[in-house]
Amino acid sequence: MVKRIAVLTSGGDAPGMNACLRACVRAGLYYGKEMYVVYDGLRGLVEGQIKQVNKDFTQDIINRGGTIIRSARLPEFKEEEVYMKAVDNLVDFEIDVLIGIGGDGTFKGLGCLSRKGIKVIGIPGTIDNDVGSTEQTIGFSTALNTICECVDKLKDTSGSHQRCSLIEVMGRHCGDLALYSALAEGAEGVICVEHPLKEDKLFRKLRKMKAQNKSHAIIIVSENLLDIHDLAKKIEKETGFDTRTEVLGRLQRGGSPSAEDRVLAARMAGMAINIALDESLDSQIVGIKSGNIVRYPIEEALKMEHEHTHGLRDLIDILQ
Ligand code: F6P
Repeated sequence: MVKRIAVLTSGGDAPGMNACLRACVRAGLYYGKEMYVVYDGLRGLVEGQIKQVNKDFTQDIINRGGTIIRSARLPEFKEEEVYMKAVDNLVDFEIDVLIGIGGDGTFKGLGCLSRKGIKVIGIPGTIDNDVGSTEQTIGFSTALNTICECVDKLKDTSGSHQRCSLIEVMGRHCGDLALYSALAEGAEGVICVEHPLKEDKLFRKLRKMKAQNKSHAIIIVSENLLDIHDLAKKIEKETGFDTRTEVLGRLQRGGSPSAEDRVLAARMAGMAINIALDESLDSQIVGIKSGNIVRYPIEEALKMEHEHTHGLRDLIDILQ
């Protein structure tokens, strides 16, 4: 029978990870299980940083950004001699089920453990919304709200100076933060993998806006695609629009989680604990699909690719 469940957070931190940790610990305790946390993500698992916790540990964390059990990136975790140390620690601590809250990298690490006979459960927590097995990740909603707050402010100053603002947002290689924020802000342009830059079209549009004496232009650019400073120079040269760049960076990862992220975190944690208690189930990844919390066997989930919201790109073009 399952007796001990451990929880860790790994990869880039995301708002809502604490809310999810809280819900996992409280649900596990409710069903009479011993609950543990692993500090510093997969790295802490390799180092054996495992500690038993009680309900008090989860007091006043539902609204806190970041992750109180910290996170880390450990690309070497895919090497057998590294992840076997983690397996040994889980066996030593007699942990029956490990819940990992994180993104793709974390899930790949969980996959290594699962193939060595450890029951693992993955909960998607990353601002990037780039996990194949879920339509939404914990942290995406908050990061999107943060971006919108920043863009609203930039619009004020941009409009006062009749400027074009190029705003770089995160997402690693996924354009969701860019696409959703462009839609939410009515941006004049968006550049991301799913909506690549068409220079001539962009310059034509900005020239026209300049000729119409428009007060400002907002262009959202996804990270890792191009150098926005170079693009800004080109825009100035080709269109005459005074242009400034803003890289929002890790600001997007901080802050108190939105109500949507807190609720998603609690629902996914509830599913994770149900899976942990169900001895007929092996390792699974939790997700949300059409509003319902779902689960997939880990090997199946690892092969799934993130699908973009149908029609979003077209809608952005229509509304510009
Ligand atoms: O995965 C979350 C994320 O914030 C990405 O959007 C970004 O590319 C990356 O992490 C940055 O990672 P780090 O803070 O480790 O440099």
